[in-house]
Amino acid sequence: MNKIFVTGDTHGGFGRFSAKHLPQLKIMDRNDYMIITGDFGGVWSGTQAENSRLKWLEDKPFTTLFVDGNHENFDSLNALPVEEWHGGKIHRVTDHIIHLMRGQVFEIGGLTFFTMGGAASHDIDDGILDPAEPDFERRYWQFRRRGAYFRVLGYSWWPEEMPSEAEYEEAFANLDRVGWCVDCVLTHSAPSGILPQISPDYKPDRLTDFLETVRQLCLFSKWFFGHYHTNMDVDERFTLQWEQISQLSVN
Ligand SMILES: [Fe+2]
Repeated sequence: MNKIFVTGDTHGGFGRFSAKHLPQLKIMDRNDYMIITGDFGGVWSGTQAENSRLKWLEDKPFTTLFVDGNHENFDSLNALPVEEWHGGKIHRVTDHIIHLMRGQVFEIGGLTFFTMGGAASHDIDDGILDPAEPDFERRYWQFRRRGAYFRVLGYSWWPEEMPSEAEYEEAFANLDRVGWCVDCVLTHSAPSGILPQISPDYKPDRLTDFLETVRQLCLFSKWFFGHYHTNMDVDERFTLQWEQISQLSVN
């Protein structure tokens, strides 16, 4: 029987998977899975330090799966070759680190999973700076000095953080194919109807509205998501993960 664990945003730091924090490592193998619900952050600039972090994670006994969040380097992620794996499309980062692409349905360990990564960044209130703009440098340092909430196009922010029309269409087609019935949903964002239970500060957008449609129309037993940097069982089906690691069991 495969063991499946789910955790939230890692942002490129994988310390929670050390033997000290994850005693279950002793009983896991490559047919067991650790799922990260977005903001994996491990595929970014291809530096030696990043590669050694990925090697450390690759050497863990389990297989790592992740949906993308908003804090990913989408240029690097989307440059990886696309493969078919367990019924859906993936980017293979290493042999045992796998990106579950958007709008897919996978069969993993006897359970079906619908995956839809992506999210609208909520730490960009002051805007996105474009390095191609002539006054970029002046504005960048001005923003830094006043502690502004901003990101830089192509360095720390990509428009691909939100799904494309083609990805929404692919999601609908794959949900149609499985009759809008899966065991588990994995996303980074929450559905619009769940947001008020997390915080009144979070406003709906195109993706959370799409996920609300999935919430209304799809039969599922569990839905894990990340993004909001807290651990919370919203209700018996919806779990918001951050650093917590939960074992998935589906009734
Ligand atoms: Fe995050």
